Amino acid sequence: MTTGNTQNAQKKIILSGIQPTGTITLGNYLGAVQNWQRMQADFNSIFFIADLHALTVRREPAEFRQTAINFFAQLLACGISPENAIIYFQSHVRQHAELAWILNCNTYVGEASRMTQFKDKSAKHADNVNMGLMDYPVLMAADILLFNSDLVPVGIDQKQHLELTRDLAIRFNNRYGETFKVPDGYIPKTGAKICSLQDPTAKMSKSDPDQNATVSIIDDEATIVRRFKRAVTDSGAEICVREDKPGISNLITIYSAIENKSAAEVEREFEGKGYGDFKIAVGEAVAARFKPIREEYARYISDKEYIAKIAKDGAEKAAVLAERTLRKVKKKVGLTSF
Ligand code: TRP
Repeated sequence: MTTGNTQNAQKKIILSGIQPTGTITLGNYLGAVQNWQRMQADFNSIFFIADLHALTVRREPAEFRQTAINFFAQLLACGISPENAIIYFQSHVRQHAELAWILNCNTYVGEASRMTQFKDKSAKHADNVNMGLMDYPVLMAADILLFNSDLVPVGIDQKQHLELTRDLAIRFNNRYGETFKVPDGYIPKTGAKICSLQDPTAKMSKSDPDQNATVSIIDDEATIVRRFKRAVTDSGAEICVREDKPGISNLITIYSAIENKSAAEVEREFEGKGYGDFKIAVGEAVAARFKPIREEYARYISDKEYIAKIAKDGAEKAAVLAERTLRKVKKKVGLTSF
């Protein structure tokens, strides 16, 4: 089969994944998905639901399955389009797991156990420090290296994993001969890090148990405005970006990303205004941006057949590309093939 209109030899390849837990938040949207949407036409774009990664934490199966489908529909609703990008579920393309095994045999326990996220997650899920948790970045390296990705848009928290990916690619190339492209990270400058509305020193997380800490792209207007009204702010009254004002700074970051204004412009716009008015303005701006996404989402999620078709198409296209790399890798390491 052909790879369709999504692949063009002239364009660079970008790839990114998102774990299906909860729903896509404002943080995921401004930090990742909106950038994917904007970049998709200028690159050979590959975006997937990282469902295998999500299994590193215990999930209730029925809920997990539904969450993954919802995520896929949310990506479509955000304008990630099968016309411009290959979109699929990681678990539908077996080459991810297969390459991860071969990379495992070239990864040291020492380097995997030194990863910051592994240490954090081990502390957080002390009753379930499973092999997958330690292997998480190796699977991520497989995701990236399978497709000869040039650019990998990730949040700052994934930078160390990207460095490991580069190390593994270089190590493999040195050991077995030129095989993998060594990818570059791409950390977008706007909205790369949106913080919790309840603890503005921590990243907004889709798995945060405190509902007031996050806003989802499919929340309704009243919910969004209410969450912003309740957002934790700082002492003082001035609306400006300052290190000792993490709450207001976070709201300014959000507003400027949504309204496409610089922080300085936002500061000027709200000069002399109070926190209360500002919080409502941010909430309304976010709600206005998410309204069409919420409506599109409702349309997609009620059309399971369409979702299944797009996901199947995407997985088929991804598998063709991934198999090329995997075949080469298997040969290089000396596995037989007849
Ligand atoms: N670990 C990434 C995150 O939590 C998700 C992810 C999985 C990913 N595989 C990837 C991102 C490959 C970029 C490339 O954000």
